[in-house]
Amino acid sequence: MTAALPKGGSAPLIPRDRTVHPVPFDPDYKTSVTRSPKYALLAMESTPTEETGPVFGHDLLGPLDSNLILNFTRGESPAVGERILVHGHVLDENARPVRNTLVEIWQANAGGRYRHIKDTYFAPLDPNFGGCGRTITDEEGRYQFLTIRPGAYPWPNRGNDWRPMHIHFSVFGSGFGQRLITQMYFEGDPLIRHCPIVATVKDRSHIDRLVAPLDFSHSKPHDFLAYKFDIVLRGRRQTFFENKPEGM
Ligand SMILES: [Fe+2]
Repeated sequence: MTAALPKGGSAPLIPRDRTVHPVPFDPDYKTSVTRSPKYALLAMESTPTEETGPVFGHDLLGPLDSNLILNFTRGESPAVGERILVHGHVLDENARPVRNTLVEIWQANAGGRYRHIKDTYFAPLDPNFGGCGRTITDEEGRYQFLTIRPGAYPWPNRGNDWRPMHIHFSVFGSGFGQRLITQMYFEGDPLIRHCPIVATVKDRSHIDRLVAPLDFSHSKPHDFLAYKFDIVLRGRRQTFFENKPEGM
């Protein structure tokens, strides 16, 4: 007898290999000391709800939700910065497209400042940039965002640490058990090799999966450059989580 497939046609989830994920505790990443679990993790069986939901519809979205250059001013004024397109596929562990899944991003502005009450970096806020966007993948699992290249910013970790340019991603997948929260970096950024958060990923080839290459084939002349960032949810080729094991 064949096991029933969850909604969206995904095969049952293969247990995650925790040995390849970054360790949750890393003294060079100071906040991991207090954020990491104090006790051994308990494995729990997943439930049908976790493997089949959530389900998203395109009617959730506004016309500018995936355009961070314009969405904060509802199209009135563009954000300051280097215009870029970030695009890619969301695939499952069997290399099949993950369709109709919510992809959300958030990022600093071109000066490296977040629109957040706790961000006190003296780079100015851009009155035309909010820093958040969302979209839903199409039938081939594709997504894209128009945005500006985020600036690097300092953070009080070991005294003179700087985050490389990055965009935060949240991807739900076709089930909560696939949910991924991670960060995308930019090809050629010299700060990547100095970043303690990146360094929690110990394997160089795994870090490479978080670095989006420049993609001239999707750039638009006289308008924007493009970067390609494919995301694989679970499995041997998966995109790596931030510094903690997540999901099931
Ligand atoms: Fe950040």
